[in-house]
Amino acid sequence: MAARPVIIDCDPGQDDAVALFLAMASPEDLEIIGITTVAGNVPLELTQRNARMMCDIAARKELPVFAGCDRPLVREPVTAEYIHGDTGIDGVDVFEPETPLQDRHAVDFLIETLVNAEPDSITLVPTGPMTNIAAAIDRDPGVLRGIRRIVSMGGAMREGGNRSPSAEFNVLVDPHAAGIVYDCGRPITAMGLDVTHQVLSTRERVARIRELGNDVAEATAGMLGFFHRHDTAKYGSEGAPLHDPCTIAWLLRPDLFATKRCNVSVEKESELTLGHTAVDFWHVTDRPHNVDWTCEVDADGFYALLVERLARFGS
Ligand code: BDR
Ligand code: CA
Repeated sequence: MAARPVIIDCDPGQDDAVALFLAMASPEDLEIIGITTVAGNVPLELTQRNARMMCDIAARKELPVFAGCDRPLVREPVTAEYIHGDTGIDGVDVFEPETPLQDRHAVDFLIETLVNAEPDSITLVPTGPMTNIAAAIDRDPGVLRGIRRIVSMGGAMREGGNRSPSAEFNVLVDPHAAGIVYDCGRPITAMGLDVTHQVLSTRERVARIRELGNDVAEATAGMLGFFHRHDTAKYGSEGAPLHDPCTIAWLLRPDLFATKRCNVSVEKESELTLGHTAVDFWHVTDRPHNVDWTCEVDADGFYALLVERLARFGS
C-alpha cells in the first residue's frame, strides 16, 4: 500500500520533536508532505527553527518546513518555557539548521495543498495549538474536501487539565481554533491527556532509546531526560507523559489504542474553565458525534514501536 500523505502541524517542543522523528522513521507508512509550525510551547521563531533542527538531525533536510501563525486566533499568546526550557527543546544542543525555511506562510501552504489535493487524501496531524488549521478552514472552507482525517493531540476528559485545572495546554492556548477544527465535519481522532498520561517515558524506557546509539536516538533520549525532570515532580509518576508521538503511533499502529466516537465541544467563554474539552463520552446529549476520542493505549506496545523505529536511523 502507498504511504499515507501527512502534514504535521507542530510547536516543537520535545514531544513534538519525537513525533517528527517517529514519522520520519516510517516512510513506508507515512509520506510527510510538509511540516507546518505554529506558536505554542515557545514563540514561532523558535518552533520553526526547532522543526528544522529535527530535519537536520534525522538527515531529512529535503522536507519542506513552513512558519505559520505567531499567535492564537483571539487570545493573547501563552507559552510553556517552564516545561520545555527556553529553547523549547532543552536537552539537545541548539544549532542553526541547514534545512531551509520555506517562503510561503504555513496557512497558504495548507490551503493550496488541500484545495488542490484528491478528495479525502491528506491526513493532518496537529500536535500544537490548532491555529494554522483553523485559519486555513476559516479562509477557505474548500480545504475540507482534501482532508482524509485529522489526528490531533489535545484536550482532556478523565485526567483534568495540565495547564489549568480543567484545560489541556494546546486547547487552552487556542480554544477558538480547537472549536473550529472539532466542528469542521471531517473525521477526527483526538489524543487527550487520558491516553498520553499513560505513555510514560520512564528511566528504563529512555535508557533503551539511548542505547540505540544513533544521532536521533541520542537527541530523543536527551530531550526526554529533560522533560522527565519537570513532569515527574509535577505528577509524582515514574516518567513524563509523551504526548505528541501518540498521534503518529496511532497512524502506524491503531491497534495499540482504543477510541470511542462521541461529541467533543470546547469551552470558549468561562474564565474558570476556558479551553475545557467537554467530552460526551456516555452520549448524554444529542450533540453530533464529531470526534473519535482515544481512551486506552498499550504503553509497552507504544514504546516497543518507538524503539523499533528509532533504531532505523543511522543503520
Ligand atoms: C501538549 O502541550 C505541549 O506542552 C506538548 O507539546 C503537547 O503538545 C500537552 O498538553
Ligand atoms: Ca506540542
